Amino acid sequence: MIGDLKWGVTISAVQTEGAYKKDGKGISIWDTFAKNKSKIKDRSDASIATDFYHRYKEDIDLAVHIGLKIFRFSISWSRILPKGTGAINQKGIDFYNNVINYCLSVGVEPWITTYHWDLPQELQDKGGWRNREILFCYENYIKILRDNYADRVTHWILINEAIVCIGAGYFLGIHAPGKRGIKNFSAGIHHILLAQAKGYRVLKKEKGLQVGTAISCTKIDPYTKSLKDQKAAKKIDALMNRLCIEPHLGMGYPEKDLPLTKRIEKFIEDGDMEEMKTNFDFWGIQTYAREVVKSAWYVPYLGAMLVSPKKRKVPVSIMGWETYPEGAYYFLERFSKYNPEKPLWLSECGMALGEGEDDQKRIEYYKRVIEGAKNVLEKRINLKGILVWTLVDNFEWAEGYIPKFGIISLDEKNLDRTMKKTAIWLKKKLSS
Ligand code: NOJ
Repeated sequence: MIGDLKWGVTISAVQTEGAYKKDGKGISIWDTFAKNKSKIKDRSDASIATDFYHRYKEDIDLAVHIGLKIFRFSISWSRILPKGTGAINQKGIDFYNNVINYCLSVGVEPWITTYHWDLPQELQDKGGWRNREILFCYENYIKILRDNYADRVTHWILINEAIVCIGAGYFLGIHAPGKRGIKNFSAGIHHILLAQAKGYRVLKKEKGLQVGTAISCTKIDPYTKSLKDQKAAKKIDALMNRLCIEPHLGMGYPEKDLPLTKRIEKFIEDGDMEEMKTNFDFWGIQTYAREVVKSAWYVPYLGAMLVSPKKRKVPVSIMGWETYPEGAYYFLERFSKYNPEKPLWLSECGMALGEGEDDQKRIEYYKRVIEGAKNVLEKRINLKGILVWTLVDNFEWAEGYIPKFGIISLDEKNLDRTMKKTAIWLKKKLSS
């Protein structure tokens, strides 16, 4: 049964493309944010990244060589609309046409992610996801993508990991645009989810499309069995794993377990929650790590905090995360309970290693993911396939180029690509 799963790979624009000003591309919030070197661990930026803009054929060929059947990439909004709205940049449209056509010519399915965190700077200057006007800007952007690409691309993912995008970018300020605070967060969450619901309807005007969303999922456990810690864990679980799906299912925001969502109310207009209901054609589950939570009355809004893996004396990856491949099984099973019919994809999974770390660790990680997938299929859960994160080592946001998630390494000087042990192992696995 595991042989019926489709395998592919996920990449994103900021993390790979480079060419950040080339051929009419506008500036995005990540171009601006990474200029402030104190925000990026190795003081790098994404202006060149893996140079996917010029090397897309080589990367797609590598994916094909490994035996991957799906190539999921994201579109840079500011390459299509340099100012976020208004004039279309034809060279930007052409670039993604080239990527799509090349995928099709070598027999790999192109999948589009419409938004992987890189808002055009001009829209940010007007408030970004805090400003309700973003709804119309996003809808307009999606119409342009549909009119240009829907004739050849069947699978679409609207927003990639809304919770990380808004949590890290508008609440903690550790990602672009570097905003903080509960007001920014509440407005941002409501607008990005509503935009996604609108985007779904725009795309579904075209017949035959499969339109989904990609949800960040982190396994949450309480630190102790005490009621206080259990309640705290439930709260963080609602924040990380429920907030960005339940409103689309018509369940509203998870107010009972996460009281801070009451603050979203003032951004909700008549009809919003009805419009929010979205019957996505599939859900993409993306999972990497486990966190342990304890009650902490002094933490504003949450009353809860994470207990670091170091304190718990568990090994961590170069990301500082407790790697948790068992999350694949856990979340696929859990999401299938919302709706057993819904097609599910593991639309990202992977493990970062540091420079010089033995790649065997990543192979072991993927083996455990596959074990989980087998169990999922045995339970007749509707899992369709697995997309690995990621193809080539790339710009890992605020962590720069330090964590290496690729199954292919990148020579930072000449940008040469070399298959790692994981890629060789996966190739064997997929051909057997
Ligand atoms: C999920 C994000 O979608 C991706 O951009 C990121 O690189 C990986 N997680 C690893 O952190």
